[in-house]
Amino acid sequence: MSTIRDVARHAGVSTMTVSRVLNNSGYVSVEARERVEAAIAELGYVPNSLARSLRSKQTRTVALVFTDVTNPFFTTLARGAEDAASHHDFNVILCNTDESEAKQDRYLAVLLQKRVDGILLVPARSRSEPVMLIQRQGVPVVVMDRRVPAAQVDVVRCDSERGAYEMTRYLMDLGHRHIALLTGPEGVSTARDRVLGYLRALSEDGQPIEDAMVVYGDFTQASGYDMAQQVLGLPLPPTALFAANNFIAAGAFRALSDAGLEVPTDVSIVTFDDLPAAWAYEPFMTVVEQPAYDMGYQATELLFARLSGQAPDACQEVILPTRIIVRHSSGSPLVTGGPRDH
Ligand code: RIB
Repeated sequence: MSTIRDVARHAGVSTMTVSRVLNNSGYVSVEARERVEAAIAELGYVPNSLARSLRSKQTRTVALVFTDVTNPFFTTLARGAEDAASHHDFNVILCNTDESEAKQDRYLAVLLQKRVDGILLVPARSRSEPVMLIQRQGVPVVVMDRRVPAAQVDVVRCDSERGAYEMTRYLMDLGHRHIALLTGPEGVSTARDRVLGYLRALSEDGQPIEDAMVVYGDFTQASGYDMAQQVLGLPLPPTALFAANNFIAAGAFRALSDAGLEVPTDVSIVTFDDLPAAWAYEPFMTVVEQPAYDMGYQATELLFARLSGQAPDACQEVILPTRIIVRHSSGSPLVTGGPRDH
């Protein structure tokens, strides 16, 4: 493998001149620059980024570690993060953990070995250990979307509890009294906070809490299908399904269709997480919209403020507002208060 010395010898210049060309810094004559670039091409030289980063103490790279690369919520969040990073002339490494703590741990170990300059983390669970591991290495980290209550760490997220409270109130104002909440894993703060908001709305209104109407599963379509089937099989089935994310809603929608139930005539369905406008020609679903792009952008700006020493000493918690968008998947329940017998 060619070294910087080979390039200098081949071009007939000093290694300092080659370094100036590589870092685009300092004066280099046009003729010397052309000779260096020709030598790099002929020798197939690739700069040793780790050696350079050790000298400059920066890799100019941050990592975005999130939990579902197939979910438009996270790809929109990643778009915001990458746009912010590129404004600072930084690269972004994307790491998909599939909501797995084991996979997350493997990625974090590699990223810390690679000496990335900072980490943007959507934690697979709300345990503090992964965040503290990163902090012990002296690497700035900003948590996104989810809470890590036991850690002192910057967080940029939405208020899932309030968003769920408002959506449940909306359904109750339509007349629904049997609302099922289908949510993600209990160890994920957004899954848990959405249950808390739902329960607060019911208890404020003096509604009985039916334990069977709250189901913890996964943020996946398959789990959404299974959870919907579970509540539709109850003696008094729900008149409304509240999905804690877009994939659960998609699976639940398929379960309603397979059961011959029409939306919203027989059962209303609402969810967190809108789909990108381009994905839905005629948006149908009533949603709690989260500003995913802004979450990614603002979290990355906060990370760069940390990197440059511009951020306040105290950890920051930025809570972005959610917004309810009412469309065609929700309506008043049947007089019977439950799906029609088919
Ligand atoms: O899609 C996965 C869900 O988990 C999203 O609603 C997001 O808030 C994340 O926490």
